[in-house]
Amino acid sequence: MDYKDFGLVNTKQIFADALVNHYAVPAFNFYNMETLSAIINAARDTHSPVILAVSESALKYMGDDLMRGMIWGLNLKSNENVALHLDHGTSFESCVHAIKLGFSSVMIDGSKLPFDENVNLVRTVTDYAHKYDVSVEAELGALSGIEDENTRGDTSSYTDPNDVVNFVNQTNADSLAIAIGTSHGAYKRKSDDEELRFDILDKIAEQLPEFPLVLHGASTVPARFVSAINDNGGKMPNARGIAPEQLRRAVEKNICKINIDSDLRLGFTAGVRETLSKKPENFNPREYLSAAYENMYATCVDEIKNIMHSAK
Ligand code: G3H
Ligand code: 13P
Ligand code: ZN
Repeated sequence: MDYKDFGLVNTKQIFADALVNHYAVPAFNFYNMETLSAIINAARDTHSPVILAVSESALKYMGDDLMRGMIWGLNLKSNENVALHLDHGTSFESCVHAIKLGFSSVMIDGSKLPFDENVNLVRTVTDYAHKYDVSVEAELGALSGIEDENTRGDTSSYTDPNDVVNFVNQTNADSLAIAIGTSHGAYKRKSDDEELRFDILDKIAEQLPEFPLVLHGASTVPARFVSAINDNGGKMPNARGIAPEQLRRAVEKNICKINIDSDLRLGFTAGVRETLSKKPENFNPREYLSAAYENMYATCVDEIKNIMHSAK
């Protein structure tokens, strides 16, 4: 199935505008109807381009057909600038599968591989994807993956600015995810004053001045959601994200895609916990899922307007 039949666009044209006009395109992860509708309604209401990101595990959770059915049901028009993107693809086969389903963009994540193996893997994907006008994101440097505060460990390695031009030239990638101190999950920081490595970002942007750079692990971890979770039976002490000012600063320096998953997970969970605590007799999922939706929608609108600056 051709992604253009879904009204989708690839990320190349979206990023071209973002680079010229100095904003970032939000990439929000979805995995069900509530997450998808919160994201698309926020993008539509703010007239923002948006990247609908699906991880391999989220695709497995939704199932290929149901996921495509939901995208079909959005009735997208190409001038809405919506891309469907495979997040953290782990193999050539996974990217081919996504492209055959109608994804307009794929990430092939070879960031844990040695440089040459990463190059070779990305190159096989770009050679295939570009035949179908599908854009490809690659990653150089590795983020630490923190799922909860007990597994916090610094396994990250920052992107080496001396490698980026060579990597992009050899791989033909269309955008590059870099490691400058962000990390996945809700436990990113020991204190509020930890800073991203803007010195590394400056050097990378100097090497690749007109090239779309991507920031993964960029959730802000809103304190109101963490409190709502902790006040209603949850247990997420010391959850902390990236300060919005730091993300805004990164956007000014050529970061033109910002990945957010945890903030919506937190909003979802906070909405469900609060509703069920207030009304323990409730057993109507539409009620507590509506609260989850409202939190996610408000988060997307807020981040689009106040971090990405992608609202038109
Ligand atoms: O970067 C990873 C995303 O947050 C997706 O996570 O594989 O649990 O869906 P997931
Ligand atoms: P967060 O965990 O910070 O939301 O990062 C999401 C992400 O990078 C998805 O690829
Ligand atoms: Zn990521």
